[in-house]
Amino acid sequence: MKRRHFLGLAGGTLVAAGATAYSFSDKRNLQRADLPLVGKGAPTLSPDEEQILSLASLAPSGHNTQPWFIQYLTPYHWIIGNDSSKWLPAVDPHQRETMLSIGAFLQNLEYAAQASGYACRWTLLAGTNQNEHVMDVSLIKGSSVTPIDVEKIKSRRTMRGRFLEVPLRADDLAHLLGSESESMRYLPVAGKEAQFINEQTIEANRLQAYRDPAQGELADWVRFSSRDALSHRDGLTTGGMEITGMSGWMVRNFYDKARVLTSDFRERGIANVRAEVASSAGWILISTRDESVAGLLETGRRMQRLFLKVRERNIALHPMTQILEEMSTRRSLRSAIGIEPGVQFILRVGYVASYPPPVSLRRPVSWFVRLPAAV
Ligand SMILES: Cc1cc2nc3c(=O)[nH]c(=O)nc-3n(C[C@H](O)[C@H](O)[C@H](O)COP(=O)(O)O)c2cc1C
Repeated sequence: MKRRHFLGLAGGTLVAAGATAYSFSDKRNLQRADLPLVGKGAPTLSPDEEQILSLASLAPSGHNTQPWFIQYLTPYHWIIGNDSSKWLPAVDPHQRETMLSIGAFLQNLEYAAQASGYACRWTLLAGTNQNEHVMDVSLIKGSSVTPIDVEKIKSRRTMRGRFLEVPLRADDLAHLLGSESESMRYLPVAGKEAQFINEQTIEANRLQAYRDPAQGELADWVRFSSRDALSHRDGLTTGGMEITGMSGWMVRNFYDKARVLTSDFRERGIANVRAEVASSAGWILISTRDESVAGLLETGRRMQRLFLKVRERNIALHPMTQILEEMSTRRSLRSAIGIEPGVQFILRVGYVASYPPPVSLRRPVSWFVRLPAAV
């Protein structure tokens, strides 16, 4: 066989092999639209109950751990629980963020219940962030409140990446903070407080990226492949982390936990944070006077009320909580001039040119509802 002919054949074989390998590879990020929101469910639940709980579960949570469960007592009477198997001990050792996430879940649940015509009667059960039973809720038919459009719950998402570097307009700010301006504060991008948060966010991410327990914990919640994502329906997928195109394909097919612990991966994460903080309209801080269970749950609810208002104004929100998770940056925030004590949420905010649909996954309702033991 002539050499050129052989090379041609070999090249063709390689291309065909490559194309075959590619066609069997993990080509696309598994995303929310690929899976039904309401599945077959637990047989005990009524369609209303299942709908309300699936909407509640669209709440945000740190690393998308979804740290809640439902102890089903009787129809429309449940206990909202704190699932310790979903805690993040390396970055949230006192379960402060767990309670904030459960607060966001409660807000979604209340809005979803109102949309189906129910009012919620709440009784706080937890005295600490570690108690398994957090809140007792009864849903009573006949809500008199004008419900919000549940499409807002369905379309809410965390945005990462770059935002436009223009400050929020006064009318948008008034819409977002509304009557909650006492506990929420906007730091416009050009101000010295926003610059301080930018610098400290980079520093906190650098500290955290090189703190092995924190980086290892992050790796445990990354769902590298679509198969992994489908079996867990939680955590951070390539789409959720906004790693798209060829980079997303590489992560889905070739990355694993060990890769997240390499210095290359850590440095790339810090570089991303630098780029993100360099492009925004500034920051929104949410504070609470006390860190009691009730205070944290209310702050989580407040954050969620804000989160549900941003898309209609083309405004993106990105919780960036590392300053509060690293001891030294948390301390420097406390002593910073012009920043009030008791900050629980640090949210990067800004206008965006395009606002894609949500991609992060959720566990089906039947996975987080615990039914009473059969007698
Ligand atoms: C308490 C809390 C802390 C969070 N911290 C961060 C963070 O530091 N960085 C980040 O990119 N996202 C953070 N998030 C956003 C979550 O990662 C996000 O809600 C989750 O992945 C689900 O995605 P979704 O909000 O688009 O539904 C946080 C969310 C909550 C509720």
